[in-house]
Amino acid sequence: MKIVLIGFMGAGKTSLAKRLSEELELEYVDMDNMIIRASGRSTDTEIFDKDSEDKFRQLETAIAQRLRSKEKAVISTGGGVVINDINMKYLKENGIIVFLKNSFSTSQSRISKKNPPPLFRDKKRAKLLYELRLPLYTKHADYIIETDKMSLDEIIQEIINKIKK
Ligand code: S3P
Repeated sequence: MKIVLIGFMGAGKTSLAKRLSEELELEYVDMDNMIIRASGRSTDTEIFDKDSEDKFRQLETAIAQRLRSKEKAVISTGGGVVINDINMKYLKENGIIVFLKNSFSTSQSRISKKNPPPLFRDKKRAKLLYELRLPLYTKHADYIIETDKMSLDEIIQEIINKIKK
């Protein structure tokens, strides 16, 4: 089983993917970390600032392609993975796509003010991105979980219930 968690920055993709991989005894794969490793930089912000967003997106697609043939894993993606259809095509190959849906204000409250991801540094722009991307996450999702009022444990249980149906 390959489960792919998608959603906006601050959706909790990383912590949920880690927990879910333990529960299901599957490998945990973090696309952002793979991208950072492949870039030779030490953070996503560094790639955006010292290389470019384009460079980040190229690596993101290369990693998605590499994960195409994976059959057993829980994959946490970066919030922008949905902007290139090809990424989703790769991730959907024998993968179940779960959209962790939350309000913009929930993302805002979860994201560190000191160290936000590069595209969350400008709040107005981030809000715009959020609006633009919502239909994309929805379009690609096999399952949508509205997480605003749920605890981590409840979300994990909900994902397990859905994928085991
Ligand atoms: C991005 C989200 C980040 C990271 C990169 C770009 C985006 O991941 O992939 O900074 O475009 O939304 P998280 O969603 O894990 O913060």
